Amino acid sequence: MKKLIHLAALAGASLILLASCNDANNASLSTTPSLIPLPQAVTLSDQYFMLTPSTTIGYDTNNKELAAIAGILNSKMKNATGFTCSEKATGDIRFVLLDTPTANAESYQLTVDNDGVEIAAAQPAGIFYGMQTLLQLLPTEINSTTVATPAAGWEIPYTDIKDAPQFKHRGMMLDVSRHWFTKEEVMAYIDQMATYKMNVFHWHLTDDQGWRIEIKSLPRLTEMGAFRAPRVGQWWQREPQQPGEATTYGGYYTQEDIKEVLAYAAARYVRVIPEIDVPGHALAILVAYPEMACIKAPKTINVGEKFYGIDENSLCAGNEASFEFMEKVLTEVAALFPDEYIHIGGDECYKGFWAKCPKCKKRMQAEGLKSTHELQSYFIRRMETILKAKGKKLIGWDEIHEGGLAPEATVMSWRGMQGGITAAKSGHHVIMTPNNNCYLDLYQGERSVEPDTYSMCRLTDSYNFNPIPEGVDPEMILGGQGNLWTESVPHFRHAEYMTWPRGWALAEVLWSGTDNKDWNGFVKRVENHFERADYAKINYARSMYNAIINPFRTENGDVRIELASELSDLAIYYTFDNTDPDSYTPQYKAPLTIPKDATWLRVVTYRDGKPIGKVITLKTADLIKQSAGSVRKVGNL
Ligand code: ACM
Ligand code: ZN
Repeated sequence: MKKLIHLAALAGASLILLASCNDANNASLSTTPSLIPLPQAVTLSDQYFMLTPSTTIGYDTNNKELAAIAGILNSKMKNATGFTCSEKATGDIRFVLLDTPTANAESYQLTVDNDGVEIAAAQPAGIFYGMQTLLQLLPTEINSTTVATPAAGWEIPYTDIKDAPQFKHRGMMLDVSRHWFTKEEVMAYIDQMATYKMNVFHWHLTDDQGWRIEIKSLPRLTEMGAFRAPRVGQWWQREPQQPGEATTYGGYYTQEDIKEVLAYAAARYVRVIPEIDVPGHALAILVAYPEMACIKAPKTINVGEKFYGIDENSLCAGNEASFEFMEKVLTEVAALFPDEYIHIGGDECYKGFWAKCPKCKKRMQAEGLKSTHELQSYFIRRMETILKAKGKKLIGWDEIHEGGLAPEATVMSWRGMQGGITAAKSGHHVIMTPNNNCYLDLYQGERSVEPDTYSMCRLTDSYNFNPIPEGVDPEMILGGQGNLWTESVPHFRHAEYMTWPRGWALAEVLWSGTDNKDWNGFVKRVENHFERADYAKINYARSMYNAIINPFRTENGDVRIELASELSDLAIYYTFDNTDPDSYTPQYKAPLTIPKDATWLRVVTYRDGKPIGKVITLKTADLIKQSAGSVRKVGNL
């Protein structure tokens, strides 16, 4: 009997929950697939196709793209199963290219029945996504890096899935400047995002703390700009490079490395958009080529010390040398990267030195520019002219609005949605990455038990992301992306910790759409993917299990402490008496009053009688201070 898990119209993504569990088959619910992102329509049955050493993969073996997809499928399965499926023109797992040229290139249909597995799509991209779904239909052990034996064998449930993405741009940004990631790590990141049907890798290649791409005509960029003094302490609190200190931290990608990454990404249907961040965030450029500073170039690459407004980090917009430099850089970047877009940054450009610079002032006068914002706009327009001549389109962060938007620019909105809304309403394409939903560098749970960073973006915030604001033509919104800035990300395992599971939530929003969210269902699937990540040795954050602690004041000034949880099925226990909380200490029911002389509040979450979150220990004096920031009416306690 079939269980219709959910059915959604392909186009509208409307989700109707029609789970009709077969009485005799409740046991098989444990194997109900936990797909992320959720497909547009799934029917499931309680029968299974078994993957065995004699299973074959069938496709037109003259088609190189299909052969590459079969290769990826086989290599992913081989680690865990220990066997390789032979590849032939016909097989048990069949890739079928349909003659439907108007269909969405990324859509696919996946059928598993007694004939085996069939993935049908108009384009290889769709076959690739069907293959990713197929892997998620297998037991979690399929992600194992060593041979595993799932209890029920390599079962693939009979199913019929119709699927297509909601958004064209489903991106992830990785900042490789603040922290240097090897090309192998970059490829691992791309593979992980492709697993969740993300299709754009935004490679933030340059910033104040390091220039990471070989530009053959400008060798000092990497000779000087790619290395800095080693530091691991807290960002903005670090000691600057000292006289005579060796610049041993860093690295860069040669153009050959980049070609390798591009080929790897292309095989996973991931477009790569390089970012060359100018005119601000350019300190590493000025160290290498000081002639492009307005007044005085800094001598050392920033290691994470405070410098804004003290050291220059913007290219002089009055000096033609800056434009000649960018012409050279963009010529090589455009030749290397096949994507139609190049991101030129444009964010957080400090303009204080421009305001004092004779060359910048002269430029403003000559061009009739009334403010340094207009000077920034002038700079960005010139970037657009350079890119257009090379057949490329410009993307910039939402600050490129200030002083007037370049005519054909695509805006990446990060300071909330407003920059994107304004751009879309004036006819520009937009990629939404509002920091409170999409910034993967932010805290994802109670700060005292998370590695140090700033501000907050919980899993619920990422899951609640809706890239299409009301009143905006959806056609103008290309999609969205998660951004991982790496000031406080010292290694790749921590990049994974910051990315997952928030990246899964974003993947789901961008692929499955926003109409039919089901937070509790999503959490269940996330937990299945925690298991998959464990098998794959991929790190992730369990922050969703930690309690949320919200101190506030009543209208008459009394301090209260609200405890909460992102998950609906957790019990929260607490103490004020300097002992560890557990399920025998008081359970939270309503906002707490701090008992007289209590020094510490300790809190822990439980599920099904077992501790699940971290023990959180906070000073009551700090909570009292924080409570001043939030006043609630008595009726809203
Ligand atoms: C940014 O976060 N400065 C784009
Ligand atoms: Zn200047």
